[in-house]
Amino acid sequence: MNQARHIAIIMDGNGRWAELKNKKRAYGHEIGAKVVKDITAFCAANKDIERLTLYAFSTENWKRPRLEVEFLMKLLDKYLTSELQTYIENNVKFESIGDIRAFSKSLQETIKNVEEKTAHCDGLVQSLALNYGSQNEILRAINKIKNCENDITEAMLGNALDCKHDVDLLIRTGGDHRLSNFLLWQAAYAELFFTDTLWPDFTTSNLENIIKDFTKIERRFGGLK
Ligand code: IPE
Ligand code: IPE
Ligand code: MG
Repeated sequence: MNQARHIAIIMDGNGRWAELKNKKRAYGHEIGAKVVKDITAFCAANKDIERLTLYAFSTENWKRPRLEVEFLMKLLDKYLTSELQTYIENNVKFESIGDIRAFSKSLQETIKNVEEKTAHCDGLVQSLALNYGSQNEILRAINKIKNCENDITEAMLGNALDCKHDVDLLIRTGGDHRLSNFLLWQAAYAELFFTDTLWPDFTTSNLENIIKDFTKIERRFGGLK
């Protein structure tokens, strides 16, 4: 039976969810943050799941209206600050992937503080993709290793990425069937699940059902069964 050791999620649909309720997009992001909390707690309690990588802000999301970007930055700061204790209680190690140098100094400090204070946790690793774009990640990785004497190998490039772990199961909520520049290298052999459910409506039982379906898939990795 397959184990979904590394689950990655494109958490999409917050804005549409709010608009359907005649609310501001920001409200959708707030409820979306609560779902992050529930899904993380569920994964932390499931010993088979080692990593949960969540797409929270892409390198393309800077194109949004300034007020929405500012709201997302504040929400992220608030979320991380209020969740620190829960991370520790649930033995969850927090990591960020992406280029956070583009964020304000104080948000960078919040992120680093939660990384440091949860570094000893050895349960689930929750990775938030922040100012993350797969193409940007691959470029930064190549620039890190380009001066080595020998040819670059797959292993060298893989280890120079922010996220060094292959994805088993990649889920996108919100109805679109695209990767939007998320984990292009690491998801090379991931099983892909797309659901129309908007992220604020996504529940732990939705995730449980997807994991159940995942376990039944025959993963061949190019070989034969
Ligand atoms: C995903 O929801 C959250 C972020 C990208 C930050 P969206 O904000 O993309 O919501 P929709 O897709 O517009 O409904
Ligand atoms: C992908 O959602 C990014 C995040 C979930 C953070 P988007 O809403 O930004 O993606 P597109 O614009 O539909 O590709
Ligand atoms: Mg979207």
